[in-house]
Amino acid sequence: MTSDILIRPLEPADAEAFRALRLEGLTVAPEAFGASYEEDVSVPLETIRARLSASPNAVFGAFADHALVGMAGFAVYDRMKARHKGLLWGVYVKAEWRGRHIAKRLVQQVIDHACQHVIMLEAAVGLTNDGARRTYHGLGFKPYGIQRKALRVGDTFYDEELLYLDLAGSGGA
Ligand SMILES: CC(C)(COP(=O)(O)OP(=O)(O)OC[C@H]1O[C@@H](n2cnc3c(N)ncnc32)[C@H](O)[C@@H]1OP(=O)(O)O)[C@@H](O)C(=O)NCCC(=O)NCCS
Repeated sequence: MTSDILIRPLEPADAEAFRALRLEGLTVAPEAFGASYEEDVSVPLETIRARLSASPNAVFGAFADHALVGMAGFAVYDRMKARHKGLLWGVYVKAEWRGRHIAKRLVQQVIDHACQHVIMLEAAVGLTNDGARRTYHGLGFKPYGIQRKALRVGDTFYDEELLYLDLAGSGGA
């Protein structure tokens, strides 16, 4: 049951909870994220607060009894010729809350939000990350390629599947 889970956009006041969950994800699943713990641990809270208020970029959080247990991020590409595209990033659900469709709800929120701002949503997922791949494919993301050795964690390289979701026709910019 996920009826007791509240999904909402994170606000600057959620910066500490966001930081803790983000660092947990980077620690327990380093191969799942482009960012690394070493880089993110030194990001000041003030910078995180600013990022959490930088609309239309957004981070959606899943709350269980007021505790942040999952998150999914959305960012619009910066450059003029790429501002019609957005990126799904930072999808993470605490281990004890997995298997309850929380990631599915979080990513659906990102999609709904993205529809208001971009016409294409992109994502990258580890080729062996069955849970995330199933989540994204199930929500309509299509694979368009594989990036070999996309990430390196220590001495291990990880291939990533590149995905897109075409939002054109659903009210996108
Ligand atoms: C991947 C992750 C976000 C999934 O979170 P979750 O809340 O358990 O996922 P959901 O319950 O919403 O599952 C969505 C779908 O994927 C399936 N799924 C989830 N985890 C799975 C797994 N390990 N193996 C197979 N299928 C899985 C579910 O059965 C569900 O399918 P359905 O819609 O057909 O029922 C979570 O395992 C996680 O945080 N992993 C570590 C970080 C990570 O890999 N992030 C993704 C970066 S790209």
